[in-house]
Amino acid sequence: MNHTPVTAPTSAPAATPVTVEDALRSRRSVRAFLPTPVPRSTVERLLALAARSASNSNCQPWQVHVVSGTAKRSLTAALLRSHAGDGEGRGRDYAYQPEQDGWREPFRSRRRRFGESLYRDTLGIRADDTDARLDHHRRNYDFFGAPVGIVLTTSRHPLQSALVDAGLFLQALMLAARGDGLDTCPQASVIDFSPVLRRHLLIPDDQLIVCGVALGYADPAHRLNRLRTPREPVVSFATFHEDEAG
Ligand SMILES: Cc1cc2nc3c(=O)[nH]c(=O)nc-3n(C[C@H](O)[C@H](O)[C@H](O)COP(=O)(O)O)c2cc1C
Repeated sequence: MNHTPVTAPTSAPAATPVTVEDALRSRRSVRAFLPTPVPRSTVERLLALAARSASNSNCQPWQVHVVSGTAKRSLTAALLRSHAGDGEGRGRDYAYQPEQDGWREPFRSRRRRFGESLYRDTLGIRADDTDARLDHHRRNYDFFGAPVGIVLTTSRHPLQSALVDAGLFLQALMLAARGDGLDTCPQASVIDFSPVLRRHLLIPDDQLIVCGVALGYADPAHRLNRLRTPREPVVSFATFHEDEAG
């Protein structure tokens, strides 16, 4: 196996030790990255940590494809060609989310609020400015400028547990990244073009493409990185069943 770095390490910020709580509180989706390279040894260590995740009967059904350098650039170009209708067509391996009108409450409202805080409040884009919204959306295909793009896949068999296991891997990877001062953005947008990913990265048919992940150092000066998302209080989603009277 080749252990050369993804790109030569230069002035990466020093890793800061973080507690699990710090990692959970500081993880957020970063949508603007510095070009600072991430050494391949770092990516490998983060993947090894993420692979400590629990999985059904320890099946470990996840796989990852890591792109950087010219490999990332040519994947981005292929995705953008398809997005412009000039390459392979759209196609997802699984119904990641409902179609535009299929969202139910409370998710419909939460999704709308998120869209407003990203496009209107953070980027200053009006709801009817389709071109500007598309401009931002297209940045997904460059992994928001991150030096490393990861495509996460999982076994199609047994699918339901393999998807849960892949989700655990994804979260662990994002939290592990915080330990090295790195940030991430999970990306379902790239799976709109799963045929492109499959052909480019030689992903076998028995692997389902789950999502992409951008990995790198956040650009602290970029306005996109001012976005903070709220959470519902514990009381809204937790029901405690305790000692019963009598
Ligand atoms: C599986 C998954 C796919 C996502 N896909 C995208 C995406 O394609 N583009 C994007 O900008 N954000 C994407 N997100 C990020 C969510 O919008 C984000 O997690 C959510 O708004 C909460 O914000 P936070 O991650 O900053 O806490 C995705 C998140 C998850 C978990």
